[in-house]
Amino acid sequence: MDQAMAVDENVRDRAQELKRIAGIAAADALVSSNMRIGMGTGSTARYAIHRIAERIATGELSNIAAVASSSQAAEECYAVGLSVLSLEDPRIAGELDLVIDGADEVDTAGRVTKGGGAALLREKVMAYAASRVAIVVTRDKHVADLGLTFPVPVEVVPFAAFPVRLSLERYGFSVSVRSGTGKMGPVITDNGNVILDVLFDGPQDVALLESEIAEIPGVVEVGLFTRRTFDFFTVEPNGTISSP
Ligand code: A5P
Repeated sequence: MDQAMAVDENVRDRAQELKRIAGIAAADALVSSNMRIGMGTGSTARYAIHRIAERIATGELSNIAAVASSSQAAEECYAVGLSVLSLEDPRIAGELDLVIDGADEVDTAGRVTKGGGAALLREKVMAYAASRVAIVVTRDKHVADLGLTFPVPVEVVPFAAFPVRLSLERYGFSVSVRSGTGKMGPVITDNGNVILDVLFDGPQDVALLESEIAEIPGVVEVGLFTRRTFDFFTVEPNGTISSP
């Protein structure tokens, strides 16, 4: 292995370790027995799922009812022996005590972009069904303004993709249809829709945009979360947790 490759792997390992610290911190601080928990999607939230399962295995937690925000979150749950319920299940009855989820960007007002894993619709449904939402992120996810570096995902019914794209381009934004890997053509979400990734042309009124984009016919959901308050578990490069 040459030196550059070894350095890359160390950086990757450290990045994973930081995500693990954030996931564990939220699962340890906020989860108690008898909770209904929304399991988030992504490479950080998965560590919270694993930690909850560990705490159940040691007998520290019992009677945890889980809902998954995506097929990936469900797979993570199944892998550690957690059953997944629907929001209709009588044990859930449409409400969650807690969601632990990741984010793609967090701005200085604590608003976030989500949907890098194309799970924004179910993530938003869960966030609004929950009494409390913890966001687990590494420090590099914090930005001054949303949507300038990491695109804001917009989930759209396939029939409407072209006109919605035009509507977003009229704002001056750059819009691209998200493509799959391991598959030719667009990513198809867990809900059978496509994703438009939208890069802004400068700082925006993101609260207004969340409403305006959601009103374009054919848009199912936008990955801006500007109205929900969150408990942030931000892991610093040295491994300490700060909020936000
Ligand atoms: C899934 O659609 C996203 O909202 C994720 O929660 C977000 O992309 C964060 O993922 P990572 O923790 O893998 O960065």
